[in-house]
Amino acid sequence: MNFSVTVLPGDGIGPEVTAEAVKVLDVVGDRFGHTFDLKFGKIGGTAIDETGMALPVETIDKCSKVDAILFGAVGGPKWDKAGASVRPEDGILAIRKNLGLFANLRPVKAYPTLVNSSPLKPHLLKDVDMMIVRELTGGLYFGKPKKRWTTSRGRRGVDTMKYTEQEIERIVRVGFELAQGRRKLLTSADKFNVLESSRLWREVAIEVSEEYPDVELEHILVDNLAMQLIRDPSHYDVIVAENTFGDIISDEAAVLSGSLGMLPSASLAGVPRSDGERSFTVLGLYEPIHGSAPDIAGRGIANPVGTILSTAMLLRHSLGLNSEAKAVEDSVDGILAEGYRTPDIVTDGTGAISTKEFGDLIAGRV
Ligand code: IPM
Ligand code: MG
Repeated sequence: MNFSVTVLPGDGIGPEVTAEAVKVLDVVGDRFGHTFDLKFGKIGGTAIDETGMALPVETIDKCSKVDAILFGAVGGPKWDKAGASVRPEDGILAIRKNLGLFANLRPVKAYPTLVNSSPLKPHLLKDVDMMIVRELTGGLYFGKPKKRWTTSRGRRGVDTMKYTEQEIERIVRVGFELAQGRRKLLTSADKFNVLESSRLWREVAIEVSEEYPDVELEHILVDNLAMQLIRDPSHYDVIVAENTFGDIISDEAAVLSGSLGMLPSASLAGVPRSDGERSFTVLGLYEPIHGSAPDIAGRGIANPVGTILSTAMLLRHSLGLNSEAKAVEDSVDGILAEGYRTPDIVTDGTGAISTKEFGDLIAGRV
């Protein structure tokens, strides 16, 4: 089959890690008989340098009629000046909003082979395998009013956490759909004791739950969740949360996996359902959880696994290629089990291999 994918490498280590993912995609194409028509676009700091915009119009065009988007990372100290009128992060926020990518899937699992890379005690990491579903185009990130102003009594700033019932319903539905294909436990995180938008969130979650009698729905205050994620992480199956809450808890949960470099993500414009026989594909943007890591950019030591596993999610959710996705995931597991490591996940400080070598090994095993 023929598929079109737009690649947005971005800044810092973005180009290095996306190059390895593209390598894996090429091998998948050869092995399974698909053609991936790749287009490359600019985003973030490098786009600001060339066009003055974090998300140039040309890049939006390149993302509009494609099956999926593979994204690296944006940002860096060069563009971090306070008072700058445009920031690299504006690019990723704008593309999420522009393409309606409301459902952010962030799977977190603790690799048995990497338990020593995590600061947590190994027994806590046993059976950790969760999916965080973060609402991505609403809530505190996008609610209006959102502004800064000056009054006679000083400066003020406001952000607004706002949700419509439709926005809550569709994201909670994503949580239920995914939970159905997993352990059938959905944890909805909110701040019901304080926030009105959370009270609506909980109400809608309960309404939607009636359509999913086979899934257990539990509610938890997000501050308590922050604690439970460290105390008893293996309890969790699918967690659904507001944009900012999801942003924070997904960074926290990332620690469980041993390295931020390992984790993939998908940002989808629809409700994914992949249950083997039936596969419904949706437009999505796929990116590693980690940022642009300017401190290690250009040194060939970044971990490409997060981006390669994001590519597996791309194959599954946007192209409907479940076996191909599985082949990539199995290859990553296999290479890790054989003991290969990038510097971020070596335990004794020796024997690390480069980004490119790691990518070659994974591609070679697909
Ligand atoms: C993330 C990042 C972004 C976010 C930043 C880069 C704008 O932290 O994807 O989690 O806050 O959503
Ligand atoms: Mg974040």
